[in-house]
Amino acid sequence: MATAARQSSIAPNDLEAYWMGFTSNRAFKKAPRLIARAKDMHYFTTDGRKLIDGTAGLWCCNAGHNREPIVQAIQRQAAELDYAPAFQCAHPQAFELANRISALAPADLDHVFFCNSGSEAVDTALKVALAYHAVRGEASRTRLIGRERGYHGVGFGGISVGGIVANRKMFGTLLAGVDHLPATYDRANQAFTKGEPEYGAHFADELERIVALHDASTIAAVIVEPMAGSTGVLPAPKGYLQRLRQICDKHGILLILDEVITGFGRLGFPFAAERYGVVPDIITFAKGVTSGTVPMGGVIARKPIYDAFMRGPEHVVELFHGYTYSAHPISSRRHSPTPPCASRACPTCSTSAPSG
Ligand SMILES: Cc1ncc(COP(=O)(O)O)c(C=O)c1O
Repeated sequence: MATAARQSSIAPNDLEAYWMGFTSNRAFKKAPRLIARAKDMHYFTTDGRKLIDGTAGLWCCNAGHNREPIVQAIQRQAAELDYAPAFQCAHPQAFELANRISALAPADLDHVFFCNSGSEAVDTALKVALAYHAVRGEASRTRLIGRERGYHGVGFGGISVGGIVANRKMFGTLLAGVDHLPATYDRANQAFTKGEPEYGAHFADELERIVALHDASTIAAVIVEPMAGSTGVLPAPKGYLQRLRQICDKHGILLILDEVITGFGRLGFPFAAERYGVVPDIITFAKGVTSGTVPMGGVIARKPIYDAFMRGPEHVVELFHGYTYSAHPISSRRHSPTPPCASRACPTCSTSAPSG
């Protein structure tokens, strides 16, 4: 009876007003799947079932659900500083988090621009790429190259460079000047491969064909997922990303790795760039950075890209881009052992937690 009483207090009696994304709304509302709470690797539904969260939410709850240190960090930050303006103003946690992310990222990927989602991260990366060429006097580099079957979120930039037809076909002409590499999947030659396919590095050579068609002087950047996720999990073929890197270098084209899924440990490394031994010019991230608890995304750029903007008079705004919630204090707050957590269950604080 107690369970039934709890359920009726949780389950809404009208599902109409909420227009759900990427969902068959009418079918869902006839047979809704409602999650009431979560802990570690489990969800608990409103009708009392315990489910294993085998997909980590939408590939985002990398540290598991409702982890005590994360819950405490969010609670503390909400009580201390709920918001600070993101333009011409900041709060200390933003800088600390940027430093920690740049330390995690490979090579000289040293500068972090924050936003609130993977889609915004992709749009930010594409804009940074275009603006980077412009500030260096190569404003003719305006083309963006994506990949068939790619998923880069749902902003106009992301669906333009993305390659999933259902996400593109109803939204008009999209961004101009976008071209696509072929997908890396070839069932005839890769079926039943475990891990990285041996076959397929040559799909990167298609970039040479695109360069021959448009000329390198018109191409700003290539964006790919190091391991495709939303189209079905497609690890990059062996040598593919290295080849893409070489061709980009040869033609002065920026390489953006969209690590919204692969960032923060998904492939066993902080970033897939490290897993594949390829240093991109820009990495996008979101999802796992907060283990899905609070929205956050961002872009990590190599030092020469940041430096290219840091010229001219110092009082001038270098990049006319940013979000009200860039580096939101609650997303940025890290778990801090001082002052100690109230929870003795917290693994980080357990030694210093009060005993009472
Ligand atoms: C590679 C990639 N880029 C971008 C996105 C978009 O992220 P968001 O849904 O947070 O906007 C996703 C989402 O799954 C993704 O997998």
